[in-house]
Amino acid sequence: MDKHNTAILVLAAGQGTRMRSDLPKVMHRLAGLPMLGHVLATARSLGSEIGVVVGPEMASVERLAAGHRLIRQQERLGTGHAVAQARGAFAGIEASTVLVMYGDTPLITPETLARMVETRERSGAAIVVLGMRPEPPGAYGRLVMAGDDLVAIVEAAEASPEQLAIPLCNSGVMAIDGRHIWPLVAQIGNANAKGEYYLTDIVAIARAQGLAARVVEAGLEELTGVNSRAELAAAEAILQRRLRARAMAGGATLIDPDTVYFSADTRLGQDVVVEPNVVFGPKVTIGNRVEIRAFSHIEGAQVADDVVIGPFARLRPGAHLAEGVHVGNFVEIKNTRMGAGAKANHLTYLGDADVGAASNVGAGTITCNYDGFDKFRTTIGQGAFIGSNTALVAPVTVGDGAITAAGSVVTHDVAADALALGRARQVVKPGHAARFRATKRRLKNEG
Ligand code: UD1
Ligand code: MG
Repeated sequence: MDKHNTAILVLAAGQGTRMRSDLPKVMHRLAGLPMLGHVLATARSLGSEIGVVVGPEMASVERLAAGHRLIRQQERLGTGHAVAQARGAFAGIEASTVLVMYGDTPLITPETLARMVETRERSGAAIVVLGMRPEPPGAYGRLVMAGDDLVAIVEAAEASPEQLAIPLCNSGVMAIDGRHIWPLVAQIGNANAKGEYYLTDIVAIARAQGLAARVVEAGLEELTGVNSRAELAAAEAILQRRLRARAMAGGATLIDPDTVYFSADTRLGQDVVVEPNVVFGPKVTIGNRVEIRAFSHIEGAQVADDVVIGPFARLRPGAHLAEGVHVGNFVEIKNTRMGAGAKANHLTYLGDADVGAASNVGAGTITCNYDGFDKFRTTIGQGAFIGSNTALVAPVTVGDGAITAAGSVVTHDVAADALALGRARQVVKPGHAARFRATKRRLKNEG
């Protein structure tokens, strides 16, 4: 199939009232990415000419669709009306097939869409509709067949009892001959139960002109539409299963796959081991042979080979871990680079910092990076040793090979190979504890 011959039109003008949300429906996230983002990624794998129909006041949708042809549908007068609005934006595209997709059906696979396009081009049918068999068929449009030919799509609201008994339904996705789409769509009227322009009428209109329509069927799972929060969760579950399978097929071991949550864009190297209860937020890249121990939360992080993370570690956006870094339990890392072999194994916050290769950051170290107004950087050289419970008050630099003593509050730069002591001098009073206890006991006994 010639990729450049398929144009794709995504309908996304619906607000999605059943979501009960201020956010347009297609902006709700699945695996960290807005629903529409999934649809656009699928669309991009099929063709480069893509249009998106958006409703009025959908700035967030428009931003996401930027770079594609944007079609504003001022009034939501039906799917047929939505497609008709795209005519001008698609002028000049010589597509052999135009695919119409919905923004709220994010799980559809490129393979299924390619099968539709191939069927249309091979059979010469003007329209190929993607069919499904939901149980019960409910409010979906019914596909009226005569042998292999699709005769008409009847909306449930208009269907006779016999037609309502048809199990084969319209998923909404259509592949339409690029030469015929605009004249056909222009003939759609709105004399029906809802007073809407039904895209589905295009089938009967094409037939009346001697053009043919066919059906390709796909499984219900990929045609799951999202209209409510419950359906959003159901779609998330399907997507997570796919992402887990993809991770394992790519050479990662997931000890308990059902407890690991991925973003659509998570990239794992080979021989990565992920222990149970790990969450990957958006924009994470993990190298080879990385061990991610239980209960870690990772987002916006780049992790090189042979790194060990967790258990109970948190990597936030801008965490860059070079080869062989160890990040242990209850360590949070944000906007920080750790050089090769550097370690922060326990109870530590590193924010807005650079940690040089082979440095060791002791338990309880905190970069004090924020004064309530601005953020400041902490720079630690190579082979440095940050003693336990050091507070690094940024901006501050600790040189190569320097040591900070445990419990230090480091407010001034420390030169390479220097020792910084920033804590109160210890006072020891011999016998004082015993005398203190004796006094306390006597006072208590005396009442
Ligand atoms: C549509 C089909 C129905 C099919 C069902 C599958 C029609 C007339 N009916 O019904 O046969 O079984 O989908 O889910 O097409 N949209 C716009 N602008 C509009 C109207 C809709 O962009 O003016 C978009 C919506 O945002 C949505 C999609 O088109 O993404 C489908 O619209 P929706 O109202 O959900 O159609 P259904 O009534 O479900
Ligand atoms: Mg719908």
